[in-house]
Amino acid sequence: MAPPSITLIGAGNAGYHLGRRLRATGSEIVQVFSRQPAKARELAEATGAQPINRLAEVKAGAGLYILAVSDGAIAPVAATLRQRLPEDSAVVHTSGATPSTVLAPSFPRHGIFYPLQTFSREREPNFSTIPVCIYSPDEELEGQLAALGRQISNNVHRIDDEQRAILHVAAVFVNNFSNHLFHIGKVIVEEEKLPFELLLPLIRETVDKIETNAPKDMQTGPARRGDRKTIERHLAYLKKFPNFEAVYEVLTESIHQEKT
Ligand SMILES: NC(=O)c1ccc[n+]([C@@H]2O[C@H](COP(=O)([O-])OP(=O)(O)OC[C@H]3O[C@@H](n4cnc5c(N)ncnc54)[C@H](OP(=O)(O)O)[C@@H]3O)[C@@H](O)[C@H]2O)c1
Repeated sequence: MAPPSITLIGAGNAGYHLGRRLRATGSEIVQVFSRQPAKARELAEATGAQPINRLAEVKAGAGLYILAVSDGAIAPVAATLRQRLPEDSAVVHTSGATPSTVLAPSFPRHGIFYPLQTFSREREPNFSTIPVCIYSPDEELEGQLAALGRQISNNVHRIDDEQRAILHVAAVFVNNFSNHLFHIGKVIVEEEKLPFELLLPLIRETVDKIETNAPKDMQTGPARRGDRKTIERHLAYLKKFPNFEAVYEVLTESIHQEKT
């Protein structure tokens, strides 16, 4: 079965990488939409698509419409597209946090094409290992999404709305929160005129260890050991960073609670 032709709505971090990967693996990208002409043009050039800046320019007839727009924009963009496209158009979004049902009022053939990775424009992702979470209440569309997922990755999963919402909570912890903790570490060492690079081997080993061990078993440090004196010293230092002090206290207590 030939892959469906695709219109990509959104040229942000996710749309940029998804569009280029789909094109590189054989998909025809018909149009790329961004309200910002330069962004639409750049991605359209990379994917051989037509750049457009107004939703009114979206053409009917693509095999699949992928909405890679901010979560809050998914429903209103779908409603606007519904005024242009036939009701039986296949429309999916790429959000981990948003149920597929937000598309239902506009398009009965709707679904999810959620790549579970953190995308930034300036970083080239290794797509073949990225879990692609697909779902549709329409069996035929779900089959097409699974095939499209396998086209760009060796790691495709059917994950329904409820499971995906919970998966997204876990993803926030392991990515957004850990990245924020790296930020805190950077602010602290740089406050003391030390380079952040000093911490990089530690960060790498923290991640490498949990490939083969449970994170809880790999926990070390004063909170794990119950070393109150060290904890008090750290909290005294953190008085100059009240926001970070609060984070330290919450995480210390959480590690303590999970110890047994
Ligand atoms: N980045 C990630 O790591 C990642 C990973 C997996 C899934 N996702 C999901 O992918 C989706 C896009 O995220 P992102 O990280 O790519 O966001 P982003 O870089 O902030 O880009 C957001 C895109 O949404 C468009 N947009 C926002 N409001 C709009 C509106 N009212 N009408 C039309 N377009 C609008 C923006 O359009 P303009 O270009 O016109 O400003 C931009 O193209 C989200 O649902 C997100 O949950 C993101």
